[in-house]
Amino acid sequence: MAGQVEATAPESGDVELRRVLGPWQLIGIGIGAIIGAGIFVITGQAAADHAGPAIVLSFVFACVGCAFAGLCYAELAAMIPASGGAYTYAYAAFGRLVGFMIGWDLCLEYGMAASTVAVGWGGYFKALLGHVGVEVPAQFASAPFAQGADGSLVTTEAIVNLPAVGVVAILTALLILGIRSSAGFNNAMVLLKVGIVLAVIAFGLPLISGENLTPLIPENTGKFGEFGWSGILAASGVIFFAYIGFDSVSVAAQEAKNPQRDLPIGILGSLAICTVLYILMSLTMVGLAHYSTLKVDAPVSVAIAAAGEELAWLRTWVEVGAIAGLSTVILVSLYGQTRIFYAMSRDGFLPAAFSKIDPKSRTPVVSTLIIGAVVALFAGLFPLDILGDMVSAGTLIAFILVCVAVMVLRETRPNVKRPFKTPFYPAVPILGIIVCGMMVWPLLETLWWRVLGWMAIGLVIYLVYGIWHAKEPMWKLVDEPPAK
Ligand code: ALA
Repeated sequence: MAGQVEATAPESGDVELRRVLGPWQLIGIGIGAIIGAGIFVITGQAAADHAGPAIVLSFVFACVGCAFAGLCYAELAAMIPASGGAYTYAYAAFGRLVGFMIGWDLCLEYGMAASTVAVGWGGYFKALLGHVGVEVPAQFASAPFAQGADGSLVTTEAIVNLPAVGVVAILTALLILGIRSSAGFNNAMVLLKVGIVLAVIAFGLPLISGENLTPLIPENTGKFGEFGWSGILAASGVIFFAYIGFDSVSVAAQEAKNPQRDLPIGILGSLAICTVLYILMSLTMVGLAHYSTLKVDAPVSVAIAAAGEELAWLRTWVEVGAIAGLSTVILVSLYGQTRIFYAMSRDGFLPAAFSKIDPKSRTPVVSTLIIGAVVALFAGLFPLDILGDMVSAGTLIAFILVCVAVMVLRETRPNVKRPFKTPFYPAVPILGIIVCGMMVWPLLETLWWRVLGWMAIGLVIYLVYGIWHAKEPMWKLVDEPPAK
């Protein structure tokens, strides 16, 4: 057989995921996962704290890292079109332990990202309700925990962030109804949020003021990461969050009609479209309002307001677009998390409940319910900054491993068919490791103990459960027969 992957026949009684996704739906999944709290919330905060107007350069730098990692993802996604994304690739390249640890690390990228964005969603939802005169009582609208000045966890007056919990509950229910309806919902929301982003750029860009953009790179305060060139680098690690999601296309491999051709199209296409939008959108934001005013829950609204009466009509639309945009990110992140646990469970690392597909809806119902509950818990209890930086750090670590995996597999399995090959090999994966490494470094300086703690929990689960239940994976790399 010339094919590069053999799927093991499903065990009797197993129900397989449906192959319903084409290239446009995959690009839709990518954009649905990418444009969200990163551009609508975190960009303003990163400009105010780290980069000033040079936030535009941070987007360029982060995009370069994502493009290198994206090309590596595309090679592996086309070569190993099985559910699980970076988890499956790490398993194929490095074996069980590293595969499991990357699967666990990906919970930060998907599960915790869903919580982060749900918190951002709550912020815009509150702003929109405020415009129509409805106030959510303060103790039910934000997190009971916050980050103290020294980085420790402190309590607030709040009880729970109810809007954030509510949106997770609704989207979990939608996922349980099945991928077909979720993809349809996703496509409609993607069109709406891209439309809003385009409107902000089209109407805002002609009104930007040169004064707000001068100096383009504010002088460094004397501290690493506070403006100047180190500020641009630190901001790129923070706004890297905005690019997260293009790789969730690869997680949908088992539901793609033609994975070999369509996965690279989905990954690179969605990344390219979002990069152009981000560069223009961030330029518009720091051009309309002074960067120091953007450290708020709804910075795009603040930027639009700074343009004066001329753009007043756009404000409500921006809030509606943000709410739609963030909904799709939560949806796709939840989806990605269920599929990663599905793959890990099929490989025996997690209990069988996580890979049980409901015969009627053909979705992993029990797994989706458990994940939805945990994501809602985090969203209800913790604020956006605590969650967001953990997501960026966890994802950058996974990206670095994906770049290494491409190189390892080129050496160890050179004869497996690669429908898409990373160009300029080995420069691209090496540069991917360097650029992503530069972005994760400033984050790890403050977060290393939390990341380490997370990985330690994963290791305990592996030692207590995974190692004893691991079985042959559902995919197998097959070498091509030698050319005659
Ligand atoms: N990229 C996603 C966002 O910006 C995670 O919300």
